[in-house]
Amino acid sequence: MSVTSLNEGQGPSARSKVTVTTISQKKAQHEAVTCLTAYDYATARLVDEAGIDMILVGDSLAQVVLGYESTLPVTMEEMLHHTRAVRRAVKSAMVVGDMPYGTYQDDVKAGVANALRFVKEGGAEAVKIEGGRKRMELVERLLDAEIPVMGHIGLTPQSLHKMGGYRVQGKDLSGIESLMKDAAALDRAGVFSLVLEGVPREVAAMITREVSTATIGIGAGPDCDGQVLVFHDIVNLSFAAPAKFVRRYGDAAALIRSAVQQFKTDVESGGYPSDAESYHLPKETREDLQAILKRKEMKLAR
Ligand code: KIV
Repeated sequence: MSVTSLNEGQGPSARSKVTVTTISQKKAQHEAVTCLTAYDYATARLVDEAGIDMILVGDSLAQVVLGYESTLPVTMEEMLHHTRAVRRAVKSAMVVGDMPYGTYQDDVKAGVANALRFVKEGGAEAVKIEGGRKRMELVERLLDAEIPVMGHIGLTPQSLHKMGGYRVQGKDLSGIESLMKDAAALDRAGVFSLVLEGVPREVAAMITREVSTATIGIGAGPDCDGQVLVFHDIVNLSFAAPAKFVRRYGDAAALIRSAVQQFKTDVESGGYPSDAESYHLPKETREDLQAILKRKEMKLAR
């Protein structure tokens, strides 16, 4: 029996709550873990109802929702605002809050305080942080504070300037060794899952074999325990040339453009709203009004 279909036959809305246990069971049973980002009530509802295991309120919202060039400017308050909207929508998926740049890098105590805000104010069930061995103390302190942690190594967008751009990581032997050490350290520290972003397939496969935590790939090939993509990328709403690993499953941009264009045309041509789309006076009031208007020789609309 699959880990997430324990309520078989009752449809996705009746599925069991996904927890850290579900994710580790899926790894043990070689069942793929699914994860998508979402940042608002409507999309989070649709993603949850589709039966996705984890919803990441990613700091990618800086780019795809707020229009920034990178993830760096997004603030704690903005992340919490979106996490709360997602929380209100989601029944089964596990909600993971992405710690924004500058809220955990230089101060472990502040990192724990900010993670606690994700749980208490945002309703997140876990937080994601970028970085490997250098985050050991933070991971331990977060776990002490009872907050499950999703790790994130490889191409870590918050290290954009240090990496000198968005570059695939772990392409040479020392890069591979460094990634393997980071993965092993995070695994030992007890992260419940580990995002591998922008790493060669071969390296992601090796890490996935070596660690007991579930690896979640994005641009890391098919051998990870699960996959994550940015919601706006899969429905063509990100207004950017898609990365090599992005697969588009729909064209929301075309759908929205056509709906908006049609609305404009209808309003400009008088075709919207129709009488059936209008509210009407009750019969009695209409007759009384008509009598008054007749006395004044004015006419009511049909
Ligand atoms: O912010 C984000 O969306 C992410 C995922 C792409 C892993 O970090």
